Amino acid sequence: MANIVIVGTQWGDEGKGKIVDLLAADADMVVRFQGGNNAGHTMVVNGEQFICHLIPSGILQKKLCVIGNGVVVDPAVLIEEIDYLESKGISVGPDLLLISDRAHVIMPYHKLIDHGREKMKGDKKIGTTGRGIGPSYEDKATRRGVRFVDLVDPETFQERLDAIVPEKNFYLENFLATETVDLELTRVQYAAYADRLRPYVANVSVALQAAGKTGKQILFEGAQGTHLDIDHGTYPFVTSSNTVSGNACSGSGVGPKDIHGVIGIVKAYTTRVGAGPFPSELFDDIGNLLQKTGAEFGATTGRKRRCGWLDTVILNNAVRLNGLTGLAITKLDVLDELDEIKICVAYELKGRRISEVPANLNHLAACQPVYETLPGWRKDIRGIRRFADLPAVARQYLERIEALTGVPIQIISVGPGREETIVTHNPFHR
Ligand code: IMP
Repeated sequence: MANIVIVGTQWGDEGKGKIVDLLAADADMVVRFQGGNNAGHTMVVNGEQFICHLIPSGILQKKLCVIGNGVVVDPAVLIEEIDYLESKGISVGPDLLLISDRAHVIMPYHKLIDHGREKMKGDKKIGTTGRGIGPSYEDKATRRGVRFVDLVDPETFQERLDAIVPEKNFYLENFLATETVDLELTRVQYAAYADRLRPYVANVSVALQAAGKTGKQILFEGAQGTHLDIDHGTYPFVTSSNTVSGNACSGSGVGPKDIHGVIGIVKAYTTRVGAGPFPSELFDDIGNLLQKTGAEFGATTGRKRRCGWLDTVILNNAVRLNGLTGLAITKLDVLDELDEIKICVAYELKGRRISEVPANLNHLAACQPVYETLPGWRKDIRGIRRFADLPAVARQYLERIEALTGVPIQIISVGPGREETIVTHNPFHR
């Protein structure tokens, strides 16, 4: 039996959805433990594309999907997603989806605050997805949140609204100068959401323990990426939750001894949406080519992603922070047309060579990437299914990544489809 965590090693959008979908075949349960509908997973199955923001990707494989206590959930979005999947013939009943009774609910004022603050910040904005994620985690920390257990109990929900909404409206109106929330309308609207979602609400920690006792395998699906982590990322250009593997435990209610492996998803180059430093960013034709060939648009906001070379300073930071036991390289095929490929192996800062990510963002922004250059393979690799069949220079690129990180590559994705993958070692097969 093995329980595996999957995390993004860069700034999100590494292609986790596809790898989770792939590995879910060997899992019995798939668990989200942080973030909310700021995430977006694109999966392609039999040529059909599915985008999910909240429901774990494992739903396509009819696995038991779990939304842990560490997730913040917009109930309207969740219901929309259930309806969307069901309209495509994918069942999402309470036998296949659990929502933690302790997960926090995104309320209408959270979204208004997110937008209002970004508008006020002007040029200095973080570039949030505007889904109310930050304000919702903020209320959780200041004990003004609404949990699912509160939402599904009309009396408690009314009490929470009465206590919270007047303060929020005061702030919205007088500080952010934006629209306010109608308490009664919200109560009625959310009562309908509660009726719809009540059957799904459960004590997730207990469910996970019971699953473990019967030998079930669990896949923990991280959202965003290591460098968007609230503690370890490029603060303040980060999301509002811990995205590193350690949070798989606190965000779902399992202990560390129940985790047996951590797979880091690495895009073969680097992308970032939103603002914040990005040392290996490209502003030239190659950056444009990566953006176009890789179809680098945000799955949640549709924004163009910034593109650059693979950065192993960033990657090694993720190796350490997550305790990675294996790597999955995604979108290797996007590099097919390049004559040469660069890997950032260190930074130069004020004449000094460094190999760690500075906490001071001005320093990080001033870091000059030090590159190693490798030859490109200039060959279509999408049809390749075995590592040995990859062009020698493609293997050389992958082996260099392994040497620079000290972590074995176990999965290589050469196209968006589930079958366009080379698996050299399945982490569930220990
Ligand atoms: P928030 O998570 O909406 O508060 O946004 C904070 C920062 O995280 C912004 O730069 C977003 O673009 C970024 N972000 C949030 N979710 C994702 C994601 O799933 N992929 C990539 N970036 C994300």
